[in-house]
Amino acid sequence: MILEMKNIVKVYDRVVANKNVSITLEKGEILAIVGENGAGKSTLMKILYGLERPNSGEIYINGKKQVFRNPSDAMKQGIGMVQQHFMLFDTMTVTENIIYNNEISKGVFLDIDANRKKVRELSKRYMLEVDPDKLVKDCPVGVQQRIEILKILHQNADILIFDEPSSVLTPIEVDELLKTMKRLSNMGKSIILITHKLGEVMEVADRIVVMRDGEVVAEKRREETSIEELSYFMIGRQTTSPVIKDLEPCKEVLSVKNLSKVDESGKKLLGNINISVRGGEIVGIAGVSGNGQSELIKCITGLDTDYTGKIEVCGINVTNKGVGFIRKAGLAHIPEDRYYWGSAKEATIAENVLMGDENTERFSKKGLLNFREIRKHVYRIVENYGVKVSFLAQKMKELSGGNAQKLIVAREIEKKTPFLVACEPTRGIDVGAMEFIHEKLIEKRNNGGGILLISSELSEILKLSDRIYVIYEGRIEHEFTNKNLDSRKLGFLMLGGKTA
Ligand SMILES: Nc1ncnc2c1ncn2[C@@H]1O[C@H](COP(=O)(O)OP(=O)(O)OP(=O)(O)O)[C@@H](O)[C@H]1O
Ligand SMILES: [Mg+2]
Repeated sequence: MILEMKNIVKVYDRVVANKNVSITLEKGEILAIVGENGAGKSTLMKILYGLERPNSGEIYINGKKQVFRNPSDAMKQGIGMVQQHFMLFDTMTVTENIIYNNEISKGVFLDIDANRKKVRELSKRYMLEVDPDKLVKDCPVGVQQRIEILKILHQNADILIFDEPSSVLTPIEVDELLKTMKRLSNMGKSIILITHKLGEVMEVADRIVVMRDGEVVAEKRREETSIEELSYFMIGRQTTSPVIKDLEPCKEVLSVKNLSKVDESGKKLLGNINISVRGGEIVGIAGVSGNGQSELIKCITGLDTDYTGKIEVCGINVTNKGVGFIRKAGLAHIPEDRYYWGSAKEATIAENVLMGDENTERFSKKGLLNFREIRKHVYRIVENYGVKVSFLAQKMKELSGGNAQKLIVAREIEKKTPFLVACEPTRGIDVGAMEFIHEKLIEKRNNGGGILLISSELSEILKLSDRIYVIYEGRIEHEFTNKNLDSRKLGFLMLGGKTA
């Protein structure tokens, strides 16, 4: 046994995040930890990586008791962690990032050649291809993750922790990541994987631990269990599929005509896009991420005002207008990155729910905030959507990843605008909450709302959409009603395939 965590307890002022958690890890094993949002998975890993101190409990590495006061203590014992949000320096090269704090020097100077050589060696040994001289900001997300992994391996980690590593990756990158994990475990590395994607769990894990409310509630070898059983352990019931009733779409809530955008260097990012969304329909945009989805959404939502073409929201011309104007016209927006665009981490939950609405009549009178009304509204959202918070004045950054996501999704759906742009609405969300959010989106559609859905999960697009556009290299060349499409055909078109 390479690792044992024994009777770990972690209490934040009013939350017991870990109640008495014990796990073990064998050398060369891949252990998956699954569980609903707020179950305490990330907390347990933060303790193992020395980012948090437990109130009680012990950690043994190779049978020897260890106390980690900080990540560098943990690293010295061979523990490395790929964070949910990468911790790389954007404007430094791949080599500089990998060797950071572990450089080879000649006297007081950095020996660039030796370091570059070291990175090449590592990259070859573990079959993780990178260009040592590239700047990190010029590398796609999948490569940035590879850099994180190499950095940990460079620090001689034997135990690798992955906390939701696949939520930001394209399907091809996910495949590669899973292969990398298997290869590393075959080379004797031990891996802990946290994820909500039970398919991935069943593909790579040797053993699975299920957590609920800060406790371990089940432990199974992969051969002994199934996706259905695991989700049952996680949420205490079976999942179901939503029924989507037939509906006649009504008036147009989004019209995009001949939208084009070039970047500073003259490269075409969006080429002549025409799309339309009507009330009473969910329109999906399917595509491998990086094919123009983000750029398109930025134009539609007013985060980017520099493009040509014409955009109307609810019949109002919003071309080249900013966020405030378009929101007034009738838009709500679940953004792709919940921390970057969606929320203020240091602000409270209540402030985050209110964001953008604080000056409406409902919440303020003659410039004074109506606290009673605000509290009621926030409380209702938290209750309805099952956001796990301890009190409404809690800071956003103290929520678990999935609960922060739920809060933003709830805020935007509950604005009850005629038009909603939903980007990756269920990223980082557990299977039970996903089902609930899907129901809410369908409910909005049934009530006459129009939704533009962007998701890298094909299954989500296929499950919810009335109509689907396929985006490839900044162009939309195909449009389908959901009835004449299956995931194979869609996958083929997303990779630029042509139909007859
Ligand atoms: N710094 C903190 N202060 C207060 N409470 C916290 C803090 N960090 C985490 N918590 C609480 O501890 C509980 C467990 O959170 P944790 O992040 O471990 O959940 P998780 O299982 O990783 O969930 P998710 O799947 O959403 O990522 C949550 O209720 C969360 O609000
Ligand atoms: Mg987490």
